[in-house]
Amino acid sequence: MDVSNPNKAQGHWLLAKMGKRVLRPGGRLLSEKMIDSLEISSHSHLVEFAPGIGKTASYILSKNPNSYTGVDADESIVRKLSVKLGDKHVRFLFANAAQTGIEDETADIVVGEAMLTMHANHRKSEIIREAYRVLKKNGLYAIHELGLIPESISEEYKAEISKNLALSIKVNARPLTLIEWEELLKAEGFRIKEVFSSPMLLLERKRMLQDEGVLRTLKIGFNMMTHPQAKKRIINMKSVFNKYRENMNAVAIVAEKV
Ligand SMILES: C[S@@+](CC[C@H](N)C(=O)[O-])C[C@H]1O[C@@H](n2cnc3c(N)ncnc32)[C@H](O)[C@@H]1O
Repeated sequence: MDVSNPNKAQGHWLLAKMGKRVLRPGGRLLSEKMIDSLEISSHSHLVEFAPGIGKTASYILSKNPNSYTGVDADESIVRKLSVKLGDKHVRFLFANAAQTGIEDETADIVVGEAMLTMHANHRKSEIIREAYRVLKKNGLYAIHELGLIPESISEEYKAEISKNLALSIKVNARPLTLIEWEELLKAEGFRIKEVFSSPMLLLERKRMLQDEGVLRTLKIGFNMMTHPQAKKRIINMKSVFNKYRENMNAVAIVAEKV
């Protein structure tokens, strides 16, 4: 989570440094809708890929699953989350989601948000394959990622969006259309169970209030005022999101291991 240079920091960490807690494209409500659909119970063994600052982890834990394992590739994140949320049934592993070391067929549910988008398609597939491996039969894999619309969007325009996103958020973001996301999951043996979507309004005022509440939104505004370099970056990110708002959305997919 390196934010020492605001001009080079990855967009999500810059936002987190300013106080933002919800870092996924469809916001808190899409996450909660997706998580609620999983019907987590006291019998569920759950794995989350890339818990990041742990906002969804906290929501999942409020449902009292039997066990929770968060896997993140950032060691400082794993340390912080272990202190904040770790207990007998809750652990955090420092590992790549493509190679977690978790035993075969031990999870009922795997969740991953705003992380596959950060990877090239062959890496996305490696992570999806790992979810498949750790899931029990009929287990569920839920993802919440950046989408492209419409399905007919041209390859040139997709490349333009990816390039400008990468320049702005300093992450090699590769969003896909809904059918492309579904195809990646199906190629690894999943059946699509449920799909949700919402507009990509991550930095819009209304969504910010919905995600963060009034006090935190004010705090984020104040932090931006007192960190001009970060503010400049965030304004640039917002302008890129706005430029492509007709062609980007957020998709949440629940897929079943069959
Ligand atoms: C944009 S944040 C998403 C965090 C969280 N899921 C959320 O929605 O707020 C990206 C997080 O993904 C983690 N990450 C990215 N690729 C990963 C991978 N292959 N394996 C494990 N963690 C990964 C990063 O370390 C970081 O904590």
